[in-house]
Amino acid sequence: MKKFAWILVLVFIASLIIWGFALSQEKPKAPVAVDTAKKEVIQPAKVDTAKKEVTKTAKADTTKKVVKEHAYVGASKCKVCHNMPAWGKIYDKWSATKHATAYATLANEQSKGIAKGLKIEDAQKSAKCLVCHVTGYDAPAKLKGEKLTLEEGVSCEACHGPAGDYLTSHIKKDKALAKADGLILPTEALSKQLCEKCHNKQSPTFKEFKYKEAVKLVEHHKPTQEELKKQEEAKGK
Ligand code: HEC
Ligand code: HEC
Ligand code: HEC
Ligand code: HEC
Repeated sequence: MKKFAWILVLVFIASLIIWGFALSQEKPKAPVAVDTAKKEVIQPAKVDTAKKEVTKTAKADTTKKVVKEHAYVGASKCKVCHNMPAWGKIYDKWSATKHATAYATLANEQSKGIAKGLKIEDAQKSAKCLVCHVTGYDAPAKLKGEKLTLEEGVSCEACHGPAGDYLTSHIKKDKALAKADGLILPTEALSKQLCEKCHNKQSPTFKEFKYKEAVKLVEHHKPTQEELKKQEEAKGK
């Protein structure tokens, strides 16, 4: 009988050891739990890319302050793409507005009369006139690219911002990125800041500025498929 009791005790001890071992085996299981935790750690990495986008928009917010840091490239740079018929020949449309001849205007008889009254010798050389009749007049010389000319008058970059940085990036159709690089899409809300920088009482010939009417006179847009079809049909006739 005593022998049997000993066996029972041994079996008991053995089961304790096995149980203990099993318990100790559960600890290695813990790292498995850590593994799933790691998976969660991978997700915050996704959050990180989201953060990058957030910083992009944050950059976009600061554009207003850094607009002057972008270099001017001149309207000729935009012509290659934005004068394609399928894109609405925007360059030609702009060329037909008074903005494109604003510098030339400063040499006409009316300008000579205004200049005389203000004791300005040559309106085309006076900051008092050029500040509104050409593009980027106030910009530091180092930001004026060789292709930006006085002759182009009030050109693309006067309204869309200096293109030195967005020229290549805006093609990617990533609006946030293009904005961060300085691209401006003028809207009625922006018109005070943009159009009225020149269309104001400082102009010797100032006429009341009404954005809605004014923007129609300088309007240019990329034609829709429908509009293109109509153009084709008109050509065919
Ligand atoms: C290499 C071709 C190319 C050149 C050069 C180019 N663009 Fe563009 N531009 C594009 C493309 C592509 C788009 C996007 C068109 C679309 O979304 O349908 C675009 C769109 C735009 C838009 C509208 C952006 C929007 O979000 O709606 C503006 C404004 C613009 N360009 C201004 C300019 C100006 C100003 C210049 C010259 C400084 C210029 N582009 C030069 C290709 C060009
Ligand atoms: C850098 C200065 C400047 C900015 C910015 C500017 N303009 Fe002008 N605008 C002028 C000047 C200068 C003239 C007169 C040019 C001339 O008669 O030679 C003019 C003329 C015009 C005309 C008469 C055009 C025509 O062909 O009959 C309209 C309309 C106009 N601007 C609308 C706008 C609108 C809308 C905006 C903003 C989206 C704007 N302008 C931004 C300087 C500016
Ligand atoms: C504050 C900006 C600004 C300044 C400075 C400025 N202009 Fe203009 N100018 C304009 C705008 C905007 C127009 C078109 C709309 C208008 O006349 O209000 C214009 C139009 C003109 C026109 C055409 C007017 C017409 O009826 O077609 C002449 C000429 C002219 N300006 C000459 C001058 C001369 C000369 C000087 C310098 C003494 C000068 N401008 C200074 C903004 C300005
Ligand atoms: C007087 C200011 C002014 C000038 C100069 C100007 N633009 Fe614009 N542009 C605008 C305004 C305003 C819009 C409309 C913005 C909106 O409502 O989305 C616009 C829109 C555009 C668009 C978008 C069109 C669309 O259908 O989505 C392109 C592309 C563009 N401009 C290119 C140019 C180019 C290229 C030049 C020079 C050849 C130029 N712009 C000169 C004011 C201007």
